Amino acid sequence: MANRGGFSNKLGFILAAAGSAVGLGNIWKFPFEVGNGGGAAFVFMYLGFCFLLCFPVMVTEIAIGRKTQLNPVGAFKALGYNNWKFIGLLGIASGVIILSFYNVIAGWAFGYFFEMATGNFEIGKNFGPFVANVTKVGLYAILFMVLTAFIVSRGVSGGIEKAARLLMPALIIMILCLVGYSLTLPNAMTGLKFYLFPNFSAINGATLGGALRQAFFSLSLGMGALITYGSYVSKKDNIVSSAAFITLTDVGIAFIAGLMMFPLVSYSTQGNMSDMEGGAGLIFATLPGVFETLGPLLGIIVGAFFFLLLSFAALTSTVSLLEVPVAYVVDEFKIRRSNAVILVAIVVFLFGLPSLLGNGAVDFFTNNFALPFGSDSSATGYSSDFLSFVAKIADTLLLFGGLAISIFAGHVWKKHNLDEEISFGFENYKTSLVRKLINLGVTIICPLVLFLLLVVVLLSNFAGIDVFTMF
Ligand code: TRP
Repeated sequence: MANRGGFSNKLGFILAAAGSAVGLGNIWKFPFEVGNGGGAAFVFMYLGFCFLLCFPVMVTEIAIGRKTQLNPVGAFKALGYNNWKFIGLLGIASGVIILSFYNVIAGWAFGYFFEMATGNFEIGKNFGPFVANVTKVGLYAILFMVLTAFIVSRGVSGGIEKAARLLMPALIIMILCLVGYSLTLPNAMTGLKFYLFPNFSAINGATLGGALRQAFFSLSLGMGALITYGSYVSKKDNIVSSAAFITLTDVGIAFIAGLMMFPLVSYSTQGNMSDMEGGAGLIFATLPGVFETLGPLLGIIVGAFFFLLLSFAALTSTVSLLEVPVAYVVDEFKIRRSNAVILVAIVVFLFGLPSLLGNGAVDFFTNNFALPFGSDSSATGYSSDFLSFVAKIADTLLLFGGLAISIFAGHVWKKHNLDEEISFGFENYKTSLVRKLINLGVTIICPLVLFLLLVVVLLSNFAGIDVFTMF
């Protein structure tokens, strides 16, 4: 086999995988999903799903990758289950779809960095015109894709890992500074209360589905991203402790991002949390005004700092999203990595054009893409743009992918094979308690619970039936 490269050590892998997990999902999406899902009740469900359902799936993905040292499609073939390679193909399709719209939002974040750096605090009020300005957002999206492609083309240790080693610590330091700052603002406590004290009556089929989707999306699960990253992991590394670390980092940063956001939101709404801007605009519309109140100099520094942080977080995620189809093309069609990167990046960018154009620039892509019973966001009502539409389809595909991967590992590949792969780098695994938990997860809990929740999600989004309010 050609030399595919690999991570230089366990820390390199952990940082890259945590970099994949921590992204717009944590800092941009998590707070507004929490807002739409009724606050702390959503946070509770999300945490439960991450540890109960996602953790076993994560260990399984990494194990399948390391065992086969291949991309998600090649992996299932190499294990001898040609019929199951549909999981890999679906994963690669999901990756292309996610990157196509994710890159657009990453471009907004990057653009906001420049706007803030030049002191344009009015941009928050002009979020609508900004995203409809195709020349501008198109340019930023191209720039972001080029940056991503550059890192991926440098390979696993020289590009992906190196970027994560630099960006992840920077991100964590930046975010902690902002939390410290936002807690000092007036009305901060009202925001924290909303975030941390659950109102369990807010739980229904839609919020439950939202929390589950958020868990999978945020941990980069269900599409073979971690099969791909796992394929570059050494047999000497402990997969279980790596996965634990990745999960804790991701959940921790999402949680901290909430601690940063809700005081800022509460400050900007003078403590009226119901006035909160719902949906995609939460960060982009609300924050520039908050930064403005800090005065010209501090405002520019904090504002630019924030959107730089958001761009860093997005970059380690777009890198992982691009790596999945690239690894597939490199492994299966024997194309050189640099050529594969250019090819895939162009295809993904073209695929993203409707998402780019569907925020006001082109009416057709802005208004015609509601799901039948569309939105589970009570705050914003319907969003009918192309970007929201494909985002929801992709989220749902991840749940399906997670379900299929757990069924495969628990009942097709069989748990003794999974056990054996996990044992490399974890000597006492076979006699450990965590083995029982992971096996219980992939054989029973994940297949069953994911299946049931997938039905709930499909019913609520595609048929308008909310299982919870039926009784
Ligand atoms: N987890 C990232 C975020 O929270 C997004 C992401 C990167 C992703 N790679 C992925 C989501 C693979 C699903 C699958 O922003």
